[in-house]
Amino acid sequence: MSKTVTPITYDPSAAFLPDHGLCQADLDHLAPWLENARREVIEDEKMWASGKMPPVHKLPLDAGFIRLPERLLEAYQKDRNGSELGRIIKTAQRLRDQIDRVVVLGIGGSYMGARALFEACCHPYHNELSRADRGSCPRIYFEGNNVDNDALQGLLDLLGRVRKPTTVDDRWGIVVISKSGGTLETAAAFRMLHETLRKSTGDNADATAQLIVPVTGKSGKLFELARAIGCPDVFDIPDGVGGRFSIFCAVGLLPAALLGIDIVALLEGAAAMNEHFVTARPGDNVVLDYVGVCQQLEERRGATIRVLSTWGKGLEAVGLWYDQLLAESLGKHEHGATPLTVVNTRDLHSRGQQHQEGRRDKLITNVIVDQVKRDRLAIEKSTFNQDTLDDLAGKTLPDILQAAITGTNQAYREARRPTADLHLPKLDASSLGQLFQMLMLATVVEGRLIDINPYGQPGVEAYKKHMTSNLLK
Ligand code: PA5
Repeated sequence: MSKTVTPITYDPSAAFLPDHGLCQADLDHLAPWLENARREVIEDEKMWASGKMPPVHKLPLDAGFIRLPERLLEAYQKDRNGSELGRIIKTAQRLRDQIDRVVVLGIGGSYMGARALFEACCHPYHNELSRADRGSCPRIYFEGNNVDNDALQGLLDLLGRVRKPTTVDDRWGIVVISKSGGTLETAAAFRMLHETLRKSTGDNADATAQLIVPVTGKSGKLFELARAIGCPDVFDIPDGVGGRFSIFCAVGLLPAALLGIDIVALLEGAAAMNEHFVTARPGDNVVLDYVGVCQQLEERRGATIRVLSTWGKGLEAVGLWYDQLLAESLGKHEHGATPLTVVNTRDLHSRGQQHQEGRRDKLITNVIVDQVKRDRLAIEKSTFNQDTLDDLAGKTLPDILQAAITGTNQAYREARRPTADLHLPKLDASSLGQLFQMLMLATVVEGRLIDINPYGQPGVEAYKKHMTSNLLK
């Protein structure tokens, strides 16, 4: 791993259990297969980068995400302004100067990464803070990820209130994201919000166009619409980068830059993970080890449910991003584990019972952040000790969380329930860059290992086809 990046680590030792867990011999047996899968993923990337047509059995081959962080960083080193990253940073700055609210429209892979970055990196009450306390970053709202009438009406109530904005505090804008450019949920929300935005600028076409930034493929309806509107900044979703693998292009980076997240550190984290993935041997390789543990427990112990047990509210949307990644990539041909994100300690009070005593069909992977961002809150002695919390005086919330993590793992171990721990040194851009890249690489390695093409999502088309024909009846 690169010297400037503090590595995330993976510890599956608590998954080695008699009867219901892993055994080393099985993992050793799998190691050469994992090496082959890694080789195939690396070769896939080379094949994709060569521009040659892949063999039919490899199609679609969206391996363009793998070296995307390095490509963006290299181009940025060469040309700070003209490169894609430079343009993203400049456009984010322009919008930050012009608006106080941004609506990010998108669904699935065109939404979940931005939300994950927002929730993990920003103040938990970001939208409630004053502009100064937000560092002049806009408030953010996610829409176009559903067809919920009342939810969108609620947002229109908020945005449509100001008719003639006079200061930046009244102005808002739209980042509309769709790779295909034709997704109905996003397109419908954009049509309605565009109209409201036009009214808010007094139907000034130029002013409206300045406030809309489309992120889309090089062709398609949204691309054409962006041209017709006259948007000055339009960002591309590169070919060979599938929706759920697109967090490290403008899809995730533009909203992140708008929010003041260090997108260079994010990409450096991802690039460091690539280097680690390619060079470290099984046993020391977080990507291969994670895949090996998940696969062995699924194959040999029936752990078809992968619980991503996040310890911290800021990680919930990271888990939801991963739910999509795993489900859409490997849920094919009647295969693929079922992802499930929980946030603890919250969900110990809802799902904990089942995880402790229910079916033995789960692997619990804890995601643990080693260092809090803020001062540690402590329990203090009180004149009102009816709750007896004086016994814990001096203990901090991180102490209590650590006790909960250790205690929960202990309880699972006693019941022979396998767990593994993923540690992030901090909840920051560098750790998240590593984590996202690790999980994307793990997903494609696992796909190659079990002979499922991790790219494409043919099954999603079925509902779209029926929805459209129902609407046009
Ligand atoms: O992973 C995927 O490709 C999907 O989840 C897409 O991101 C999602 O369907 C949205 O598609 P689009 O970006 O074309 O609007």
